[in-house]
Formats: sequence, C-alpha cells, structure tokens
Amino acid sequence: MSLLLTGIAELTTNDPTHADGHVDTRSDPGDALLGIVRDAALVVSDDGVIEWVGPASEAPAADERRDLGGRAVIPGFVDSHSHLVFAGDRSAEFAARMTGTPYDGGGIAVSVAATRAASDDELRRLVAGRVAEMRAQGTTTVEIKSGYGLTLEDELRSLRIARELTPHTTFLGAHVVPPEYAADRAAYVELVTGPMLDAVVADGPTALAESIDVFCEPHSAHAFDADESRTILEAGRAAGLALRVHGNQLGQGPGVQLACELGARSVDHCTFLSDEDVDALVAARGTTVATLLPGVEFSTRSPYPDARRLVDAGVDVALASDCNPGTCYSSSIPFAIALAVREMGLTPAEALHAATAVSARSLGLDRRVAPGQPAELAVVDAPTHLHLAYRAGVPIVRALDLPNA
Ligand code: NIG
Ligand code: FE
Repeated sequence: MSLLLTGIAELTTNDPTHADGHVDTRSDPGDALLGIVRDAALVVSDDGVIEWVGPASEAPAADERRDLGGRAVIPGFVDSHSHLVFAGDRSAEFAARMTGTPYDGGGIAVSVAATRAASDDELRRLVAGRVAEMRAQGTTTVEIKSGYGLTLEDELRSLRIARELTPHTTFLGAHVVPPEYAADRAAYVELVTGPMLDAVVADGPTALAESIDVFCEPHSAHAFDADESRTILEAGRAAGLALRVHGNQLGQGPGVQLACELGARSVDHCTFLSDEDVDALVAARGTTVATLLPGVEFSTRSPYPDARRLVDAGVDVALASDCNPGTCYSSSIPFAIALAVREMGLTPAEALHAATAVSARSLGLDRRVAPGQPAELAVVDAPTHLHLAYRAGVPIVRALDLPNA
C-alpha cells in the first residue's frame, strides 16, 4: 500500500536537483540551499521508503491519500550530539550558574554517581522518555553517547541501553576522569583505551558503538589534554570506530586541530576558535563537521560562536542539542535553530540545513527527501520552515508518523 501525502505548502528536500524549475526565487535565497518545492506531494511505500517527490500537480496515483492541510514538511531533525543515558538531577547547578558560578565539568561526577546507582529499567525508562520528547519536537534521528558510567560495566550498560533506541551510539568513556582515578589519570586512560574499548568492540567494531568521543579540554581539571585525547582517539580509530571530539568548549585549545588532523567526523562545541582553528576546519571540509551546540552557550552563559563567519569561510556547520544534565538539558532542535538564527548569524535556511543535512553527514547519513530514502520527516504547523525560528518556543513541529513505517 503506497501513501500519497498532499497539502504540503512547502517541502524542504535538501536535494539540490529541486533547485531547478520549482524554486520561487523571489521568496527566500535559502530556497536553493534547501531544495524547496512549493505545493508539493510525496509518495511513501508501506515500508516507509520515499517513492516519489515533486509538485502536487504532477503527483502519481497511490493506494491511500493524506492531506496535510497546507503545512510545511521538512526532513526530520538529525540530533547528532546527545548524552541521554543519565539519572539524577542537576537543576541546582544550573541555578547556581545563572547567578555566576562558572561551568567546569565538575558536575559530571554527580550524574555519574546517580547513573551508576540506577537500575537498568530505570535508565531505560529515562532514555526512552527523552527520545520520545525529541520525536515530539521533530527529531527523527539521534546520536546517543555513553559517558556517565565510567566503569567498564556501566559504560557497556549505557551503550546497550542507547543501542535499543538508535544505531548511532558513541563510546564516551573519556568524558572525564572519574573521582576514583583522580590521583592516577594515566591508569584511567589505559582503562579506556584497553579493557573498556576492547569490550565495546568485542562483538565487532560497530556492534555496540559507531564512534568514540573525548572531552578534550585543558581548561577543565576533569577532562583530557591534547596528548591524552590523541591516545584515546587513535586507539578508537585502530579499533574501527569513527571519531568525534568535544573541543574548544571552555576556551581555546587543541580539540579542533586534533579532530581535523585525525579526520574526525565531527568536532563539537567550537565555542572558542582561533583563526588557525577556522583555517583547519575549512581545510577539513567534506571530512570534519563543526557541530555547534547553542543550547550550551545559553545554559552556561557563554559567548555564542560566530556561525556566520564559519559558513562564510566554507566550514561544514551542523547544529545539535547536546541534551545532557549539565550544560544543556534541552532536547529541542527548534530551540537550537532559533538561537543559531538570533545569536549566531545563520539564516533560517542555513540553520535548518545544519540541523538536518549537515548533522546527518556527521553521522555518515544522507538526509535528502528523495526517492529511495527513508521517509524520516517532520511536519510544521505553519506554511513555511521560517516559523521554526520566528515562533521560537512554540511547539509547532513534530515527527511525522506514517501508518506502517
Ligand atoms: O557536551 N563537555 C562535556 N560534556 C557535556 C556536559 C556534560 C555534563 O556536564 O554533564 C557537554 O557539554
Ligand atoms: Fe556533549
């Protein structure tokens, strides 16, 4: 049974082939970037694959028909950076930050203790609830990191629970040095790169984790310096994992350069960048994406990075939530889009592209709305995607549920 979706006032395809012929160039220069089709229709097969995309006037027949009432349809958001596997509550830490206490990564230990103490079922319930919360806001693909276990058993448990909900899991044993290793950091790096990593890839390189990540941050006593980060990333790469890096979050540092040098898929945060960092990101385009996480700057009272400068220089810029209990307990990509537009200089079209096509690329995915692609779509209660930033804070976007997909 195929399904014809009609009543789509504006369809974002992320497919440049639609930039010819169907674009109304009077309306928005972002239309070409987004491959917009106005008054569009889509045919989806009963196994959730897109069969046809184009103007409604040319739509083929299908077994069933659903009218979306003049709404906008966009590719589902790809949230390529989240830390959903945690228990406990750190709202008091947030409140303290709002009155001036700086973030230094020390609070991660609070979440580690609570996560270790939680039962499997409790953790599973918490993670599933957060993924559902994301879906209700238009996110159809999510990357989930471990990193609040920090023992071999608790890291494996975190990855297993995350894997029940997404194939895009990331081993973040190198989130911080846990308190019990504070006096012997080298021993913890050996644990992460030895027994932990061996266990993560024991059933095959990507059976439990797709990527490895490290919090590379010399400005935090809890995180990892350049040499430690290099050791961890090289071990992960040798074990067959893709690389991701938390870099340049609390100040300028080695994270961006290291990520670009090692061919990481993504370097995330990029809050404090030197001119050399921008040059390295430009040279690494096509390989390493700069993933900006504006919810973190919001929730830590940090300066926003200049996304306009990065895009103008030719850097691949993605947007993600970084949903986590410390620096940003928001699962909302529309919130990240609104901040990127209001505070970081992206156009609404660039921000939507960053939260779909580019974030997808950082996970090795293609997020075009095109024949043969999975129908991972979101619907906006508005005639155009521009409302995502324009109506900030209003819940107008949700994942599109299809009958059999
Ligand atoms: O992406 N910076 C490292 N990790 C998280 C924060 C984790 C926490 O504070 O719980 C981040 O900001
Ligand atoms: Fe993070």
